[in-house]
Amino acid sequence: MEFKKNILCIGAGYVGGPTMAVIALKCPGYRIEVVDINEERIREWNSDDIPIYEPGLEEIVKQVRGKNLFFTTDIAKGIKQADIIFVSVNTPTKTFGEGAGMASDLQFWEETAHIIIENANNNKIIVEKSTLPVRTAEAMERILKASNRGIQFEVVSNPEFLAEGSAIPDLLEPDRVLIGAHRTPAGREAEKEIVDLYAHWVPRENIITTNLWSSELSKLVANAFLAQRISSINAVSSLCEKTDADISEIAYAVGSDSRIGRKFLNASVGFGGSCFKKDILNLVYISRSYGLTEVADYWQMVVSMNEHQKSRFVQRIVREMFNTVAGKKIALFGFAFKANTGDTRESPAIDITKKLLEERAIVSITDPKALNNARIDLKGIDRNVLYEPDPYKAAEEASAVAIMTEWEEFKILDYERIYQSMKKPAFIFDGRNLLNHKQLYEIGFNVYPIGKTPLTHFE
Ligand SMILES: NC(=O)c1ccc[n+]([C@@H]2O[C@H](COP(=O)([O-])OP(=O)(O)OC[C@H]3O[C@@H](n4cnc5c(N)ncnc54)[C@H](O)[C@@H]3O)[C@@H](O)[C@H]2O)c1
Repeated sequence: MEFKKNILCIGAGYVGGPTMAVIALKCPGYRIEVVDINEERIREWNSDDIPIYEPGLEEIVKQVRGKNLFFTTDIAKGIKQADIIFVSVNTPTKTFGEGAGMASDLQFWEETAHIIIENANNNKIIVEKSTLPVRTAEAMERILKASNRGIQFEVVSNPEFLAEGSAIPDLLEPDRVLIGAHRTPAGREAEKEIVDLYAHWVPRENIITTNLWSSELSKLVANAFLAQRISSINAVSSLCEKTDADISEIAYAVGSDSRIGRKFLNASVGFGGSCFKKDILNLVYISRSYGLTEVADYWQMVVSMNEHQKSRFVQRIVREMFNTVAGKKIALFGFAFKANTGDTRESPAIDITKKLLEERAIVSITDPKALNNARIDLKGIDRNVLYEPDPYKAAEEASAVAIMTEWEEFKILDYERIYQSMKKPAFIFDGRNLLNHKQLYEIGFNVYPIGKTPLTHFE
């Protein structure tokens, strides 16, 4: 079959894989190739056991793979064939040198620019899909233009707003698609190409076009605002625990104001995921580099509050369990940073486990999808860690259960059975306010939600 356009996506991760699967599904006239330097990942994408768990993803991949969606490691060939190149490589926080712990590490990003320039033989549109510091396109353009081979590259920004766990519905029906391009004739033309691509399934009014820098910065700002809501409600949750106010009632009352809204107001053990912390720290770094100290400090507090919430959670466990958890088994229900994903990057469960191990607890971890990643995260420090797919077994002989991830599966467990198998007094620390606390209390548990009065059988 003759395809209208060839699209290449560099980076077959949590963003590249699902995004390209949905584009392939919705644009059968386009040939999509996804490449990665990680051969194992590509092999998995071509197997029956795809490397990422996302509800609905496997079905779509099976439908389009081999038709107009292809996964390969031949990056050079992919670049030669492509009219449009999406770059969706990882841009983690830098761990070394200038800006360590704050700035984005753009080495993978820059490498792709060099690979593109080495292999390109005709004009291309380069689409920034990765989340990047504002004005990154400028650097990309400088590298691409340095070759002087007469090839035109037009860089367009198209940040991804999908959330893991709901990636497929987010991609099928996005609140908005954002496309940033230069306000030049060539920029406008490239912008139109990308608008036309999304217009195959996204209503035109939901496709926002802006200048390049607004688009790049909007992604950082969107994540900063989302994380800020979580840190704000978590800050209030600690005040509730001191005052017998109830965080769910407050979230409902405050969120009913349409100017504020209900979403992202669930108090929890803290936010995780590969994006929030890294993107806010990047925003902080950029602000500081422009001399905007107050702006930087303001956003930094969103991250600090999150660290505080995690520490506070463990301190509470230790304090309530008679000031020691040494030698006690504590079952962590959930290790993924949120439900419906196996991703554990920056998951609060990692820090909670480390802190509990420092307190010499024995930590028993159960999660429907994230146990393999948990093993990788805790490699070398997991002498006192048990990995248990069955939550009932994870809780056997434990003194406490701590809910880390809001998996629906955990809501429907037989807590009477769990209680019977645990050491007494039995504790539940609900880090997601997921369970029915009154019912647990009636079974016999001492229940500690976030931001609510505990329900205990102690005098
Ligand atoms: N994960 C999310 O929820 C999410 C949401 C929106 C945006 N983003 C952004 O999207 C980008 C990608 O995130 P992700 O979660 O998909 O990361 P990821 O680590 O899952 O995937 C990135 C992939 O790029 C590959 N890669 C790195 N350098 C390469 C190179 N030179 N050539 C070919 N492949 C290369 C890696 O091997 C990896 O498989 C990041 O900038 C992230 O901030 C992520």
